[in-house]
Amino acid sequence: MIIWNDKDSEFYVKNYGNHFSVQLFSQLISFKSDNFILDVGCGGGQLINNIVNDNKLIKNIYGIDPSSKMIELSNKNKTNANVSFIKGYAEKIEFKDNFFDIVLILNSIFHWENIEKGLLEITRVMKKNSIIYIGEERLRHGFLHGDNELKHFKNFKNFLNKKGFRDVIRKNYFFENEGFYFFSGKK
Ligand SMILES: C[S@@+](CC[C@H](N)C(=O)[O-])C[C@H]1O[C@@H](n2cnc3c(N)ncnc32)[C@H](O)[C@@H]1O
Repeated sequence: MIIWNDKDSEFYVKNYGNHFSVQLFSQLISFKSDNFILDVGCGGGQLINNIVNDNKLIKNIYGIDPSSKMIELSNKNKTNANVSFIKGYAEKIEFKDNFFDIVLILNSIFHWENIEKGLLEITRVMKKNSIIYIGEERLRHGFLHGDNELKHFKNFKNFLNKKGFRDVIRKNYFFENEGFYFFSGKK
């Protein structure tokens, strides 16, 4: 497994922690305050902090990340006692089956060692009719970070369908000279 080292984690949180995609993604997702929410690849915890700052009634929100430094930074910057940041990775999620209503993946999926295995694990912990939201940088020529096939957003959308997600939607957003893809799907 590729784990971000301390230096890269600190650099990322300092320079990209407040990236526009964090704000945008928090505005695009929808959930209820009693939902069980999981942020996979939570980094320094900015997305979760952003969400709970606007929704003080959320009680069950968890962030997982394989980097100990990211979890340390997340805990340091934690703004709400109901949030749990736990060391863990997408390909092996330490939660029981059918546990979450909402799964969030922001700027993380193309860092995983095995996307297929990660999505399978995520499907396992998602309840029936629960929702997955995926946010990713839009690169030049509209590509995603993925290799070969998956860098094409249409293929990525089809890939989510093939992995069993229903009603998959893709949207495009632009901010200054940067672009952002937002995908959602139902289990
Ligand atoms: C570019 S950062 C994004 C962090 C955060 N989601 C954000 O948008 O600020 C990518 C994150 O994915 C995490 N990551 C790498 N491999 C992972 C895996 N297999 N499962 C879950 N997270 C992983 C990294 O440790 C890192 O924190």
